[in-house]
Amino acid sequence: MHHPADPAALDLANRRYGRDELAQLPDFNATLATLLAHRSVRAFTDQPLPAGTLPLLVAAAQSAPSSSNLQVWSVIAIEDAARKARLAALANHQAHIVEAPLLLLFTADLARLKRVAAQRNEPIAGLDYLDTLLMAFIDAALAAQNALVAAESLGLGTVYIGALRNQPEAVAAELGLPGQVFPAFGLVVGHPDPTRPAAVKPRLPQSAVLHREHYSQARQDAAVADYDAILQGFQATQHLPQQPWSRQAVGRLRGPETLSGRDRLAQALHNRGFTFQ
Ligand SMILES: Cc1cc2nc3c(=O)[nH]c(=O)nc-3n(C[C@H](O)[C@H](O)[C@H](O)COP(=O)(O)O)c2cc1C
Repeated sequence: MHHPADPAALDLANRRYGRDELAQLPDFNATLATLLAHRSVRAFTDQPLPAGTLPLLVAAAQSAPSSSNLQVWSVIAIEDAARKARLAALANHQAHIVEAPLLLLFTADLARLKRVAAQRNEPIAGLDYLDTLLMAFIDAALAAQNALVAAESLGLGTVYIGALRNQPEAVAAELGLPGQVFPAFGLVVGHPDPTRPAAVKPRLPQSAVLHREHYSQARQDAAVADYDAILQGFQATQHLPQQPWSRQAVGRLRGPETLSGRDRLAQALHNRGFTFQ
């Protein structure tokens, strides 16, 4: 399975596309197998996580690179059933939040460095720039994805919860977030329910996303058309309503009314004490 010449390894890579996209592999290993097999899991058993799981996931998260090592992110681990239910209610009532034993809420956290500066009696006006805020969200995302890969390598299932940005002020109040700590997204972690398995969802062909030497829009139209057909085939196998990706993706961003409250993110950031220029 982990030998590059093994057809099963190539099959795993090509399943990411729902077609033969890669012709050969230079090498293969367990890390690649974990990455390529990713699927979001939205059905969990009530089995608790093995002891020591949370600190291991956080160690993996903290192993991610961090811009200038500023480490401008934090994570809140929520295991209390009633609190998970209240957070699920703020996130479009997504049942998997309640079902899984652990919800990790990743935050963009500028409060820690603000406090360090105050204690040192030093200015820290650099916090008030958009780039610093971006660094915090990037740090949070890299950390979270490391935690996700670690969880999947342990046989656990995960799904991100961007919907925790639908009502960020309420999420912040529920978790006692100080000013300048913003909920970026959640990550649900648990044991996948084997009776309701998730499948690997094909991605856009590489010709849509991979540009060599210079950006090319010319190759994208055919790739999107191909992908529309591939994803509809995938939806059919999953007994999901069939709809071309292009329609689905554009519809998701049709207007402010399709953003589930996130059209007011700039205002929410302002309310949470962020200023950015
Ligand atoms: C930042 C982020 C937020 C997401 N939020 C949600 C969410 O609120 N609910 C959900 O069911 N899936 C959510 N997802 C999962 C995506 O829908 C999923 O990754 C995408 O459809 C691709 O499917 P796959 O992860 O199974 O490959 C989110 C993913 C990301 C990266």
